[in-house]
Amino acid sequence: MKVINGTKLFSLDDKNAILECSNILAKGGLVAFPTETVYGLGANALDAEAVNKIFTAKGRPADNPLIVHIASLSQLNELVLEVSNQVKLLSDRFWPGPLTLVLEKKDIVPDITTGGLNTVAVRLPDHKVALDLLNECQLPIAAPSANLSGRPSPTMAQHVTIDLAGRIEAIIDGGQTGIGVESTVVSLVEDTPTLLRPGGITYEELTEVLDEVEIDPTVKAKVGSEDKAALAPGMKYKHYSPEAEVILVEGEAEKIAHKITELTDDYLAQGHKVGIMATEENSNFYEEGQIQIMGSRNRLSAISANLFRLLRSFDESEVDIILIEGVSDQGLGLAIMNRLRKAAGYQVVKV
Ligand code: TXA
Ligand code: MG
Repeated sequence: MKVINGTKLFSLDDKNAILECSNILAKGGLVAFPTETVYGLGANALDAEAVNKIFTAKGRPADNPLIVHIASLSQLNELVLEVSNQVKLLSDRFWPGPLTLVLEKKDIVPDITTGGLNTVAVRLPDHKVALDLLNECQLPIAAPSANLSGRPSPTMAQHVTIDLAGRIEAIIDGGQTGIGVESTVVSLVEDTPTLLRPGGITYEELTEVLDEVEIDPTVKAKVGSEDKAALAPGMKYKHYSPEAEVILVEGEAEKIAHKITELTDDYLAQGHKVGIMATEENSNFYEEGQIQIMGSRNRLSAISANLFRLLRSFDESEVDIILIEGVSDQGLGLAIMNRLRKAAGYQVVKV
């Protein structure tokens, strides 16, 4: 175990990491831990004072509700008014896994955890460290992504250290997370299940289990349509932003490469330092700018795994403009494009 600015950094070699972190959580402290999607910043979801510390540590607006993590279905009964057939179908198929369900909450869940809403978002994660911790402490754990509010979500313990060391009690380093984008958030409160945030479980997979899934208009929100963000309160804030300005280029792969080359030349001529996030297919096209390869257009899971790490990587290289290639909206592409459009502050060039 190391200590950085007063924050304990545990590795998986530390035999008592889980026990010590579980004790911190039970006493109302904050612990960052890996999940299969991104690192979460956990606190006892039923302890309003502990949850309040999450908002302070992250600088998170108080009306942005948190996801509550559980280790078993029996814990779900304690948190929500009703476990419907739909919930059973979805949890059977996708839990443990990157699916978060929004359901009507019981009074035991404090208002601060749900941003004042009468619903609570719950998920059962698919990661050994997360499950070991949840099982050890036997508490529902509220955990947003373990980044400073507005920054890209952390996919490595090092990202958490950069954002939060000195602000939280402990971090468990479980290596790089697998999926790389956050969980899919589905509301089951309305008549028709509604996709509020695309994530690790795709829309296509959801429709294999549910007859009908509405996509909230904010999911595909494009330029100028941010104000529709009433349903998922997290959507209206600045999100996923590295230090540099981000411009997303969407369209056909080849046209994207031409546009990014043109934009790179323009920005270089103006004296800017330019970074490019390119797909494997187009990577040979670029001759200037700092190029980072996201992965192949045919393997969106690789692109999602690399996305936030690459966005953060430009912070170290003093790049001031990042040009990013858009990908398809299919499968995991819906989540990837949703994050990239937000990272770009909806500054999108269409070709
Ligand atoms: O994969 C994930 O979901 C990660 C890991 C740590 O589990 N967590 C995560 O949490 O991404 P966070 O706080 O960064 O995102 C939570 C999202 C936000 O968009 C929030 O608005 C939405 O879930 N949310 C939470 N509770 C809600 C509720 N009651 N109604 C509607 N949306 C809700
Ligand atoms: Mg987040």
